[in-house]
Amino acid sequence: MVPREVIDTIRERVDIVDVVGQVVTLKRKGSSYVGLCPFHQEKTPSFNVVPHKGIFHCFGCGAGGDVFQFLMQTQGLSFHEALKELGNRVGVAVEDRELTPAERQQHKVRHDLYEVCELAGGWFEAVLRTRPEGEPARAYLAGRGIEEATWERYRLGYAPPSWNGLVDWLAKRGVPPEMAIAAGLARPRRGGGAYDLFRGRVIVPIQDARGRIVAFGGRHLEAMPDRRGQDGEAPPKYVNSPETAIYSKSKVLYALSHARPAIQRAGQVIVVEGYFDVLSLHQAGFRQTVATCGTALTREHLQSLRPLTTSVIALFDGDAAGVRAALRSLDLFVGAGMEARRLDLGDSKDPDEFIQTHGAEAFAARLRDSETLFDLAIRHHKERLGSTPEGRRQALMELVPIVRKLDAAPREVLIERLATSLDIRDDVVREVVGLGRRAGPPAAARVPPPARFRGSRELNHLLWLLVNHRDEVAPIVAQVDPGVVTDRLDVATVVARLLAGDPLTSIIEDVEDPDLVAILRRCAVTDPRVRDGRGEELYTVEQAAPAARQMLARLELRRVEAQISRIQQELEGCSPGSDGSRYREALVKKSHLARKRQELLKVANRRLVTRA
Ligand code: UTP
Ligand code: MN
Repeated sequence: MVPREVIDTIRERVDIVDVVGQVVTLKRKGSSYVGLCPFHQEKTPSFNVVPHKGIFHCFGCGAGGDVFQFLMQTQGLSFHEALKELGNRVGVAVEDRELTPAERQQHKVRHDLYEVCELAGGWFEAVLRTRPEGEPARAYLAGRGIEEATWERYRLGYAPPSWNGLVDWLAKRGVPPEMAIAAGLARPRRGGGAYDLFRGRVIVPIQDARGRIVAFGGRHLEAMPDRRGQDGEAPPKYVNSPETAIYSKSKVLYALSHARPAIQRAGQVIVVEGYFDVLSLHQAGFRQTVATCGTALTREHLQSLRPLTTSVIALFDGDAAGVRAALRSLDLFVGAGMEARRLDLGDSKDPDEFIQTHGAEAFAARLRDSETLFDLAIRHHKERLGSTPEGRRQALMELVPIVRKLDAAPREVLIERLATSLDIRDDVVREVVGLGRRAGPPAAARVPPPARFRGSRELNHLLWLLVNHRDEVAPIVAQVDPGVVTDRLDVATVVARLLAGDPLTSIIEDVEDPDLVAILRRCAVTDPRVRDGRGEELYTVEQAAPAARQMLARLELRRVEAQISRIQQELEGCSPGSDGSRYREALVKKSHLARKRQELLKVANRRLVTRA
């Protein structure tokens, strides 16, 4: 057991704002500090650090504790490990405690892997810097404009082209081949032993968020084609450590431990794909850059960035595939409560090449000009769908699900932006956004089994018309406010996609409600001469347009009638004498609605010409 006084001394000497501040960007507020909580997703800071009390507390999720608990909870350390780590910082020695055998085993495995990676990293570094066989790598790095200070800071190294250089060296230091294999540095040799995974490659050590080496990437020394494995014979451009007990690609971001202070200072993080892009950008002064390690960006990656900043600048190609990738990732960013921008590098292959050819000034300009993914999405849908009312409405439908995920304040901003750029009234946008957002408990607790779709006769009929007579019917349906047709978002989306001419099968694929799926399927298989809802009359193509008008009129009629009865109630509730102007206003509205009702009735009850 560690004596009480030792624990207290460490707690007193450590600055909790300092420790927390490495993971969370904190702003001073009176005698305490606030920031975005690292323990739950939030968009407005409710995470507090109170230095004079030595505690942190989140009003949003209830997380809280002292500086030791902060390390335990954010880094998965045991109490004893947290004590040791902080003791180390403030010069207080902490004795090793006795672990349970299971703890010791688990701890030891990970500990050993860190140690082996650290040893190997040191060896690669030494080969690059001091050994004659490092010469080709030194020349390679110099040729790529990577300065010596950068090699040192990022601990670059070189694996010489031998099958057992590292394995043998480790063995001499008591690391058995199995351990080198478990650390991802070697592969088993048939008949026992192991051989080096990295041979004749520049080594980029991958460090975790705390700066410990957990994996390596190895770059072939030649200029090479871009993507891996084009033809079976050629060696791959990069060889990477496999996942191990201490390395998970979907969690680790390359260079995060180096980039952290710059990310906090710049209030943004640049996410790129390549190790050399990071090296080049850091060298050029853009230290707020990290890279994924040969995988796509994941939620877990964003999770580790979010406490530092909510602003991400990511790289997407300018071609159609790149734009599609950007749009796909929009959901990921919005889901993590982050705003992403697209870095457009024009014709340059990657940021490294961009910096080499155009320089840091030009790169800074590209950063400033980067477009938010949401604006990109609006632009893309507008271009794709055209500026007809139908096209703009479809664009709205595509964008609304994203807006719906946001908190009130950013949602309002985007509603206005949508309204302006799609030229749709903002109250209409707001209404459409509102449709799928039933009031209720917050997102986490809300698992809505959506009310099953039972469409009215009119609505089902309209869907049938859209499925079977789109050309005749779409121009008519496109004229009316989506709220007339349905107040269900899934149905509205189906309608919008039918209007846009999307194939029914792909529309059905995206529908969750089985009853709505069944109705759509039925639309597709029934005889195109269908029974009209009212009588038993059959009708044909020529009657599709009038039928659509009729169904729309009936649907709208319901809405108008509901509005009239609401106004009637209002009129009954106020007296003409005391609320004169309100009363008169309601009267005017009512007579307006009554006129509308008369018009609709005519269309709604019109007999369709039949051909029985
Ligand atoms: P790129 O092919 O874009 O290469 O791969 P790069 O980063 O520009 O490499 P240089 O500049 O030619 O050295 C981007 C990233 O994809 C992963 C690596 O993480 C690389 O940094 N990758 C690429 C592999 O894992 N294996 C490969 O064979 C190629
Ligand atoms: Mn490159």
